[in-house]
Amino acid sequence: MSKAATLSDAIARRRTFAIISHPDAGKTTLTEKLLLYGGAIHLAGSVKARRAERHATSDWMKLEQERGISVTSSVMQFEYSGFQINLLDTPGHEDFSEDTYRTLVAADSAVMLLDNRKGVEERTRQLFEVCKRRRTPIFTFVNKCDRVGEDPLKLVSDVEADLGIACHPITWPIHRDGAFVGVYDRRLKEIHLFDRGRDHGARRAAVTVGALDAREVTDLLGEKAHEQLMHDILLLDEAGHPFDLDAILGGELSPVFFGSALTNFGVEPFLREFLELAPPPLPRETTTGMINPADEDFTAFVFKIQANMDPRHRDRVAFLRVCSGKFEAGMEVMHVRTKKSMRLAAPQQFLARERTAIEEAWPGDVIGVHDRGTLRIGDAVSSGAPVEFQNIPRFAPEHFARVVLLDPMKRKQLDAGLRQLTEEGAAQVFFTSATETVSPTPIVGAVGQLQFDVMLHRLEHEYGVRTRLERITGRYPRWVVGKIEEIERVARERGRLLLYDVKGNPLLLFEDQWGMRWVLDRETGLQFFDVAP
Ligand code: G4P
Repeated sequence: MSKAATLSDAIARRRTFAIISHPDAGKTTLTEKLLLYGGAIHLAGSVKARRAERHATSDWMKLEQERGISVTSSVMQFEYSGFQINLLDTPGHEDFSEDTYRTLVAADSAVMLLDNRKGVEERTRQLFEVCKRRRTPIFTFVNKCDRVGEDPLKLVSDVEADLGIACHPITWPIHRDGAFVGVYDRRLKEIHLFDRGRDHGARRAAVTVGALDAREVTDLLGEKAHEQLMHDILLLDEAGHPFDLDAILGGELSPVFFGSALTNFGVEPFLREFLELAPPPLPRETTTGMINPADEDFTAFVFKIQANMDPRHRDRVAFLRVCSGKFEAGMEVMHVRTKKSMRLAAPQQFLARERTAIEEAWPGDVIGVHDRGTLRIGDAVSSGAPVEFQNIPRFAPEHFARVVLLDPMKRKQLDAGLRQLTEEGAAQVFFTSATETVSPTPIVGAVGQLQFDVMLHRLEHEYGVRTRLERITGRYPRWVVGKIEEIERVARERGRLLLYDVKGNPLLLFEDQWGMRWVLDRETGLQFFDVAP
């Protein structure tokens, strides 16, 4: 195969996506089942068992804290049916941080995982908004269908109303005597009936596949369940949004799937349809036009930096998403921001949380490279012309605190530390005045509590600065664009605080959501944004 053909083949086969969900919807379980179907693991339970094992040992937590790193998150690469899949891990639970949002910038599509009893929850909504803003195609998987949940029709209409996205169910759950026994694939017009087996979902589920009116299937289902299914399908066909691939790819229509990650029911039909419909790596916007993945020049951008994997060194691992061309180990590239040449040494790829050295990578892939502090979030590297990708936005923090210096002589070190952490994307720093960027007590913002813990730890161990955090009651920030006198007027009311980010952009911090909405509705002369402009 010619070089160009190899590149276009590698692109066509790749699917790079992330799962967005609220804690406990079943992300770990689904991830594990996808790895199981992809042959990356042979017995489900191992990823989870390892996670439980790690959480159980307090030693591990201590180590993790001492190193000042968040719970290792990575990229899982596996193959299924000729596709090369990159599943980007989005840290959740207590390790939820800005990284979780930024990972979505590196994905080409997202799978929104919902609990069939709870539908759309808070975290899902926040992550959905990031995808929506970027017009990322979103596939919905309604999980836990092995238990009685919300009526599927109601669930779908709730998702539409809550998130403002149209839905098109591709698979539909089939129940017999109250039990979840299979799904109907409306695109393939196929019924999949599952056999639960006795291993509690450790292996792939056995399936019987047939047409809606196949004798074997109707016999298996029984008359009542079959009638109910026919009725549902008719209703969906007549009253639902029609299938429209362009709308799916434009992020306006979400294909919906029903299943149970625990028992594997519906996982394989979902995976097959998802791979078929989800986009391969697409052209990416740069400040000088679009970069096509099939361009010969290798380009990539940094979307995440993980500090101090090795406690003896200050080195970090920068995660780069490949946007175009082929990457080869040891490649000389231009670091666009500094215009300096750098060698991408010891690149790594990640398979189910194990790291392996790699020789090559293609558009859509993620590589981890060791870095001594040169790379920053959003930086681009290129083997050809210099490119700058669209900015990775700074996402609104949810927690704010004043940094109190315990040793006043360490002012300089604190500033240096905060500057470095900001550049890495590990912290956001704010000031109470637009001109004074070295204020006596800077304010830091974090998306999750763990981000604060890591910040304090790193300031102490890498910069020798002992600090204490004083929490601020404000939790809801909005960047504001408008006349500064107007912004100052709004900020004078109780329960509001005017801050400036490192670039001098003003933002208002509100103590409660109600107060924020009130201002947003009334102050029509100002523009409010939940990411930095
Ligand atoms: P998360 O990563 O999104 O937080 O969720 P996780 O997979 O850890 O799943 C959360 C809980 O939901 C787990 O139960 C898991 O077994 C259960 N679960 C996941 N998928 C399904 C499903 O399809 N059906 C049902 N009925 N349950 C599901 P747990 O009791 O918290 O943990 P465990 O003891 O089962 O590990």
